[in-house]
Amino acid sequence: MTRRALVTGAGGFIAHHLVKILLDKGYWVRGVDIKPPEFEASPAQEFEVLDLRRPEASLAATRGADEVYNLAADMGGIGFITAYHADVARNNVLISANMLEAARANGVLRFFYSSSACIYPQYLQKQPEVTPLKETDAYPADPEEGYGWEKLFAEKLCQYYREDYGLETRVARFHNVYGPLGTYEGGREKAPAAICRKVALAADGSEIEIWGDGQQTRSFMYVDDCVEGIYRLMQSGCHAPLNLGTDRLVTVDELVDVVCKAAGKTLHKRHDTSKPQGVRGRNSDNSLLRDVLKWEPRVSLEEGMARTYRWIEAELRKTNRVPEPSRIRR
Ligand SMILES: NC(=O)c1ccc[n+]([C@@H]2O[C@H](COP(=O)([O-])OP(=O)(O)OC[C@H]3O[C@@H](n4cnc5c(N)ncnc54)[C@H](O)[C@@H]3O)[C@@H](O)[C@H]2O)c1
Repeated sequence: MTRRALVTGAGGFIAHHLVKILLDKGYWVRGVDIKPPEFEASPAQEFEVLDLRRPEASLAATRGADEVYNLAADMGGIGFITAYHADVARNNVLISANMLEAARANGVLRFFYSSSACIYPQYLQKQPEVTPLKETDAYPADPEEGYGWEKLFAEKLCQYYREDYGLETRVARFHNVYGPLGTYEGGREKAPAAICRKVALAADGSEIEIWGDGQQTRSFMYVDDCVEGIYRLMQSGCHAPLNLGTDRLVTVDELVDVVCKAAGKTLHKRHDTSKPQGVRGRNSDNSLLRDVLKWEPRVSLEEGMARTYRWIEAELRKTNRVPEPSRIRR
């Protein structure tokens, strides 16, 4: 029998890609979001615009679903989540609590929750050369203010619904996901997309602004790997939170160099240390991921960033902000 999936946040970046992979796997999919997708129509069989902060909207969204993939969240890059602690925490705790309760009430069999590397304690992330974070490092808790505290609480809520009501929950902690069809301007964009935009708009030989001193470190995962990991985790028997990311640590300056290479440009970096940069260093320990899923993310940073750059450059060209390729000096 065809499995019926609800994907929330399907007007956004990762969930839009997730809808596609679930359709490929033979699911019937309903997408829900507070807004339609920005760049291309959702391929889901049904797409409904609903505000999941309202309990009745969450109940309507989950009707008839066998599986729920709850990716809806009020979120953005480090500039956004550090500027709006109250709104982000309140909106997301409402979505998470409503969606779990609605899934229980409607007899959903399996529930996926998208947590984040932002749940990890800040006291473990003060150096660029960090020890990769393993799942058990989450406690004693000291997560990112607002956004991170909500994610950590919602992880616990998943655990309680599984223990008290038998709802099978799966939780992945994403580490910096990037790729085409993600927001690249307007304030909610994350570092990889923002860097691609800045490089695309800059003339060869000119300079671009980088937030922080460029020595802060992260690991990055291409969106195709992210949605494959979500699918595999949902098939697995693992109900404990699982890291989903790569374990290749790079500085932000190195990330900029990867994008410049993809663009064929040489650019000077101007560092602005007054801008938020988040924790100093963060990497994913993938031991449990490899063990549980018998798989790990495989798209290289060079390949993934080249694809992302080409997409953002093409988007900017549509509004005449980037010259046609024939006029770009390579
Ligand atoms: N992108 C990353 O690197 C990353 C890292 C860690 C965790 N995550 C998590 O993954 C999930 C998806 O992130 P994304 O990068 O695709 O972000 P996104 O902003 O592109 O997608 C989130 C979607 O949720 C929707 N939404 C917000 N409030 C809503 C509401 N009240 N009702 C219905 N829909 C609502 C938004 O409109 C948006 O389309 C989020 O839960 C996010 O916290 C993402």
